[in-house]
Amino acid sequence: ADSLRALGAQQKLGIGTAVDDAHLGSDQPYTDIVANQFSVVTAENGMKWESVEPTRGTYDWAAADRLVAFAEQHGQQVRGHTLLWHNQLPSWLTSGVADGSISKDQLREILHQHVTDEVSRYRGKIWQWDVANEVFANSWDPNPLPNGLNGDDFWIKNLGEGVLADVFRWAHQADPKALLFYNDYNIAGQDGSNAKFQAVHDFFAKLVAEGVPVNGIGEQGHLDTQYGFDGKLFQADLQAYGDLGLKVAVTEADVRTFVNNATEQVPTSQLAAFAQPYEFSQMLTACQLVDQCISFTAWGVYDGDSWIPGTFPGTGYGLLYDVNMQPKPAYYALQQDL
Ligand code: XIL
Repeated sequence: ADSLRALGAQQKLGIGTAVDDAHLGSDQPYTDIVANQFSVVTAENGMKWESVEPTRGTYDWAAADRLVAFAEQHGQQVRGHTLLWHNQLPSWLTSGVADGSISKDQLREILHQHVTDEVSRYRGKIWQWDVANEVFANSWDPNPLPNGLNGDDFWIKNLGEGVLADVFRWAHQADPKALLFYNDYNIAGQDGSNAKFQAVHDFFAKLVAEGVPVNGIGEQGHLDTQYGFDGKLFQADLQAYGDLGLKVAVTEADVRTFVNNATEQVPTSQLAAFAQPYEFSQMLTACQLVDQCISFTAWGVYDGDSWIPGTFPGTGYGLLYDVNMQPKPAYYALQQDL
């Protein structure tokens, strides 16, 4: 049967994966899957601020460069991830802000420089940039702003919400052709009130109306079979972003379940084992049915190298390939859908 990337290409849909620099090139089966199955790659960590500027003023582009070169060699497009985020910041920056040695004005200038330097380095080589990541409040966050932004977010707290429009402008100046995305989780098809979707939708409707260079919304797609998932609502929400004149993408798909242990990752429930490929399929199908949806990316290649077991203890089995790098029902479900 055809690869995911070949099937996606027939309908102009990018099929992507997050890539772990520790495996790329050195792990042949892993590298072959990345090359053969996917047309889009995202650095799982290699383009984050702590990776590229571990010491103030000293850049380390090695991992990011390797991924961009790999993509060029294999005819793949790159999603740049991510420029403004509260996590995985270098400690010189967070500690400098905490102890007052970096002032607010300096922080803003440091951010501007970071965005300019990173986006310029890969100018013309990045298809989509996740310019800002995870700045909206969840239902459980204690200090949402009236418009739904997270008042406790590092960037919002220190620089105010106007920094969001600015990072999009700075990124656009550095690479006018890259598609500039806002990326977050639970912003499509969310259970309950769908409030986070509404906040993101209304915020970016306003930015678009103001002429801020934002081009797309990325729904991460981190699902868990223990919570409900509404594929039709997921599609409707993606469509609503598309109707603003924005592209959309599923950027970090995985579907975790409870498992026996982190080594074998056998689902403890038969029902969950069936829900896993089904929810992947619902996310892909929604993307296929929304004209503006341009790519579908899984957050990692195989269950043996996924952030899930470490972040959500007791869960796993989230990706398309199992711990032995064999394709799972979820892989075949996507292949069928494509
Ligand atoms: C995760 C990576 O997968 C881990 O390797 C790392 O330790 C932490 O970050 N949302 C995002 C991603 O936007 O960057 C995160 O990636 C997962 C959640």
